[in-house]
Amino acid sequence: TPAQELGDTLVDWFATAARDLPWRRPDVDAWAVLVSEVMLQQTPVSRVEPAWREWMARWPTPASLAAASPAEVIRAWGKLGYPRRALRLREAAVTLTERHDGAVPADVAALEALPGIGVYTARAVACFGHGQPQPVVDTNVRRVVARLIHGRAEAGPARAADLADVALLAPPEPARAVRFSVAAMELGALVCTAGTPRCGACPVRDRCAWRLAGCPPYEGPPRRV
Ligand code: ADE
Repeated sequence: TPAQELGDTLVDWFATAARDLPWRRPDVDAWAVLVSEVMLQQTPVSRVEPAWREWMARWPTPASLAAASPAEVIRAWGKLGYPRRALRLREAAVTLTERHDGAVPADVAALEALPGIGVYTARAVACFGHGQPQPVVDTNVRRVVARLIHGRAEAGPARAADLADVALLAPPEPARAVRFSVAAMELGALVCTAGTPRCGACPVRDRCAWRLAGCPPYEGPPRRV
């Protein structure tokens, strides 16, 4: 479909334009991805990078984190902010150790049942940590979809249909669908930004519904379905 061709183009763009972030390396396991996603929930990439490296060197597995004390974990979280995340991450490690043989499940519902893991993070871990072709929708992706598909400047409130919209863009081949999920996030972070996007650097600017409509300004929340 034309939407899948858009997604395909984003995958190819990602191969040349993406940031080389340590949690995106192929040797990284699902636990390392989970830790990165919890840290990235409310902290910018630049501050997460060194903290994630130190954290993974100290607690490379759920069992190792589960054995740490809450005080140690809070201290190691340091300046990442919102320290309750550190306690929930430790609680998630305890749950993984006690109920999942110390492994991170690949199932979205099982992931969502873990402390501190919401809809976005569960899908991100299934997709980036386990290679499952799941749609992954964060604020950046919602904005990319609003522009590319709906021709709107910004996303408006989250809707149940967001997941289905993103799935329309995903290439059919599973490995490419996985890369598409991170490519859409990256486009939103680097090019299709809030405010003034860098359309000159966008690989799909000629097929963007918002550009084709003449880049109309944001007109308030879309009608809810
Ligand atoms: N790559 C995978 N997940 C990410 C995130 N939440 N932020 C930035 N890059 C990512």
